[in-house]
Amino acid sequence: MDQGNGGNMKRRLIFRIKRFDPESERFIYRDYEVEVDKYSTVLDVLIKIVETQDPTLSVRYSCRMGICGSCGMVVNGKPVLACEKNVLSIGSDVVTVEPMYNLPVIKDLVTDLEDFFEKHRKVKPWLIRADEDEQFNPKAEYIQYPEELERYWNFSYCIKCGLCVAACPIVAERSDFLGPQALAQAFRWYEDSRDQYSIERLDLVDSEQGVWGCEFAGSCSRACPKGVDPALAIQLLKMEIMGRTMGFRMPSIIPRSRGRR
Ligand code: SF4
Ligand code: FES
Repeated sequence: MDQGNGGNMKRRLIFRIKRFDPESERFIYRDYEVEVDKYSTVLDVLIKIVETQDPTLSVRYSCRMGICGSCGMVVNGKPVLACEKNVLSIGSDVVTVEPMYNLPVIKDLVTDLEDFFEKHRKVKPWLIRADEDEQFNPKAEYIQYPEELERYWNFSYCIKCGLCVAACPIVAERSDFLGPQALAQAFRWYEDSRDQYSIERLDLVDSEQGVWGCEFAGSCSRACPKGVDPALAIQLLKMEIMGRTMGFRMPSIIPRSRGRR
């Protein structure tokens, strides 16, 4: 029942949480009755449950402000950041909270991101220069023009939360698929005008485990809380690979950067 509290009405809801016990290796759902108001986020409620009802519930979080990427989970079927998801905006008296899909579960709502980061490492997400000595002992700044920055700016917002991976139907079927996060970062570094590894970067993702495994469901981009648009990055990588195969660069919807190989 709603209770008056100035302009901030309280409501009682059920949080139905999917728990995983690593010792018995069993999943169970457990219901918790909680009180929320118009400011409550899913993470606020989970922390309250741990503090007042069940200290055995495991939840991972850090910044509580949509920056660190550690509180990803699935709420009423949608991958979200728990610290950004307002409970009343869900519009349901029963809020189902599950660990992120497509990732191994360590305990309760905490998933194992080791393979996720390993795939990220595979696309070499750092600046690579032809002259290694210059890279480690730079003698001047690498100049970049604003229009060059714009080519990858959007894709550099990734906070590595894994929501795109949790939403991806291909990752659900194929554990060898690099996945939307790693592929979006492959594009981010491919488009960086300071990087001199662009041809090799296309080779890294020119496979069924890479961009050709993507069937363009687009669910990764809908799930991303930072507007990274991995689905677009993957299609642009496909265009670049096809253009190289045919001997020319494909027209792009992003302004062409200067001085690329
Ligand atoms: S691309 Fe978006 S959804 Fe995927 S890990 Fe990065 S920030 Fe999260
Ligand atoms: S706790 Fe950092 S993004 Fe949610």
